[in-house]
Amino acid sequence: MTTTQRTALVTGATAGIGRAVARHLAASGVALVVHGRDPERGAQLVKEITEEGGTARFVTADLTDPAEVLALAEEAGAVDILVNNAGIYAFTGTAETTAESFDRQFAVNTRAPFLLVGALAPGMAERGHGTIVNITSTAATSPAPIGSAYGASKAAVELLTRSWATEFGARGVRVNGVSPGPVRTAGTTAMLGDNVEVLGRATLRDRIGEPDEIARVVRFLVDADSSYINGTVILANGGEPSALPA
Ligand SMILES: NC(=O)c1ccc[n+]([C@@H]2O[C@H](COP(=O)([O-])OP(=O)(O)OC[C@H]3O[C@@H](n4cnc5c(N)ncnc54)[C@H](OP(=O)(O)O)[C@@H]3O)[C@@H](O)[C@H]2O)c1
Repeated sequence: MTTTQRTALVTGATAGIGRAVARHLAASGVALVVHGRDPERGAQLVKEITEEGGTARFVTADLTDPAEVLALAEEAGAVDILVNNAGIYAFTGTAETTAESFDRQFAVNTRAPFLLVGALAPGMAERGHGTIVNITSTAATSPAPIGSAYGASKAAVELLTRSWATEFGARGVRVNGVSPGPVRTAGTTAMLGDNVEVLGRATLRDRIGEPDEIARVVRFLVDADSSYINGTVILANGGEPSALPA
């Protein structure tokens, strides 16, 4: 019996969580379209995956530009898996968040996944199978004194996750999310440097998460082992103290 190799588009695969997701999917035999803006890091990732016996190609697109998002979907073609991972975060108070910053966060975090699902999910539904995983954030459900725009952009993605599961689920397309807590990535390190560890202290694991710990949840959600999981968001956040009774 011949089995067809599955294909996946992973956005924001040039760094952090997206990079780990791409590597885990490639290791499980999925052919990758890896996306980012930085062609050098894109080429490096493709080289690593290829050297390990996997298949990958890099496509660049600035997700703040809707035309580039649609061109990315076109370039990716008829993928079986879409992982909406690329995201940006500005941890500023509401008064300090400019309209430009608000729009930018919503463009990358919310509008780009929306356009990619609109471009790719109907094809999955027509073929009768597909899986979509959206990377959300603790900020979507646990408000903090800073980062309200970021939290709102991710809360919208959690609602969209349930909407899309409703819209496409009966036609064989599963849509789920993973909500990471603090994870050690290029993004968090750029923000906090050596202090990045401090983020983990607020979790019940008392440590920061690693990209691989999120990637393994994504891999589960795109595999047949999770075939009856649809329209939900899995928390991979080390455990939130506020979830416990006092
Ligand atoms: N790290 C955490 O603690 C944490 C916690 C909760 C949720 N998350 C979510 O997890 C996802 C990944 O986070 P991360 O920390 O791994 O991110 P990261 O290290 O900052 O990497 C971000 C990725 O997104 C891409 N990207 C950023 N802006 C883009 C744009 N305008 N157009 C196209 N690509 C763009 C980057 O590509 P280039 O570098 O090539 O430009 C890079 O590949 C995000 O959605 C984030 O909100 C992260």
